[in-house]
Amino acid sequence: MQAVILVGGQGTRLRPLTLTVPKPMMPLMNRPFLEFQVNLCLRHGVREIILSTAYLPEVFRSHFGDGSHLGARMIYVTEEEPLDTCGAVKNVERYLEGTFLVFNGDVLTDLDLTTLIAYHREKGGKATLYLTRVEDPTAYGLVPLDRGGRILEFLEKPSWDQVTTDLINAGTYVLEPELLERVPEGEPYSFERQLFPQLLEEGVPMYGFPSEAYWMDIGTPAKYLQAHYDILSRRLPFRFEGEEIKPSVWVGEGAEIHPQASVFGPTVLGPGCRLEAHAVVSSNCVLGPGCRIGEGAHLEGAVLHEGCEVGPDAVLRRCVLAREVTVGERVHVSDQAVLGGRVKVGDDNDLRYGIRVWPDAEIPPQTIKF
Ligand code: GDD
Ligand code: MG
Repeated sequence: MQAVILVGGQGTRLRPLTLTVPKPMMPLMNRPFLEFQVNLCLRHGVREIILSTAYLPEVFRSHFGDGSHLGARMIYVTEEEPLDTCGAVKNVERYLEGTFLVFNGDVLTDLDLTTLIAYHREKGGKATLYLTRVEDPTAYGLVPLDRGGRILEFLEKPSWDQVTTDLINAGTYVLEPELLERVPEGEPYSFERQLFPQLLEEGVPMYGFPSEAYWMDIGTPAKYLQAHYDILSRRLPFRFEGEEIKPSVWVGEGAEIHPQASVFGPTVLGPGCRLEAHAVVSSNCVLGPGCRIGEGAHLEGAVLHEGCEVGPDAVLRRCVLAREVTVGERVHVSDQAVLGGRVKVGDDNDLRYGIRVWPDAEIPPQTIKF
């Protein structure tokens, strides 16, 4: 079977992280996020993957190439103008050979694809949608089912008075190719707002596949952090890289930990990281390659991309630092603050409450305080 992965969105809710890297290529556990979906496909024998790109397309190709090193065959199709979710699949129709899978490119899941595909065949509908349960369905596509699992309605971003179930579209579909015959070519067209509601109106059989599998849409900084914590606590499969120097502490090649520094798991230090004396890297941290943590600095629940420098006595908690961020002495960063690439924070600043600093900004010493 083939899979189409939709990776054309701009990831606006994750800015400034997504200004230079498309959301599906953001590092998750120091790997490009999309590798998780590609690996899921490979685990279930899906080897041909068509990437439907629109935003920053070259980043995907330069990482995955033709996919052969992963045992996959990757095909890239780039839209000149974004064609929306279904238009994007119509645009790759010439590559499709039969029943196929579609993935939203921003979902982390360990769904059993083999069972999903078997369920689709058993029910014999034209489309089968993976569904998950959430507390607040208003940010998703609401999908009520009848007792036989048939989809009754598809309501994208419902208002609270429309909410009749907690089942939502989890962003993975098994589809029959003839569905694309009715989709217009070369113009924006949406699965969620156009094709699915229209099929239901016409009585075309579509089924929902509710699953308790791990599921997370990494669309916001809070969820991006949570995805790291969940992988660190092994809520979904992951092959940790580096040496496990003590339980759940993985350290990459060439990393140097001062004898008076401490690291507590679960935590990952990328290759070439350096921890100075009395630095404490506590639980739920993931440090990209080549990060340097100054004397007496304290990190907990912090995700640092490649090449960040953290000054002496700085404190980082539940925050994200993109590539090559420099943080001065005694700086505090917490509460889901996000610092864009190459940001420089001068000494004695305090960044909190979900603050987002755009790439390359420089914050002079003692500028932000609470
Ligand atoms: N190629 C291409 N072209 N891809 C696109 C385009 C486009 O024009 N627009 C969006 N995408 C991709 C995005 O990159 C993402 O992977 C996927 O399509 C879904 O778009 P989002 O912008 O992330 O949608 P959403 O999160 O608001 O809602 C969707 O996902 C929810 C689950 O996370 C819907 O499918 C909901 O029904 C669903 O519940
Ligand atoms: Mg999304």
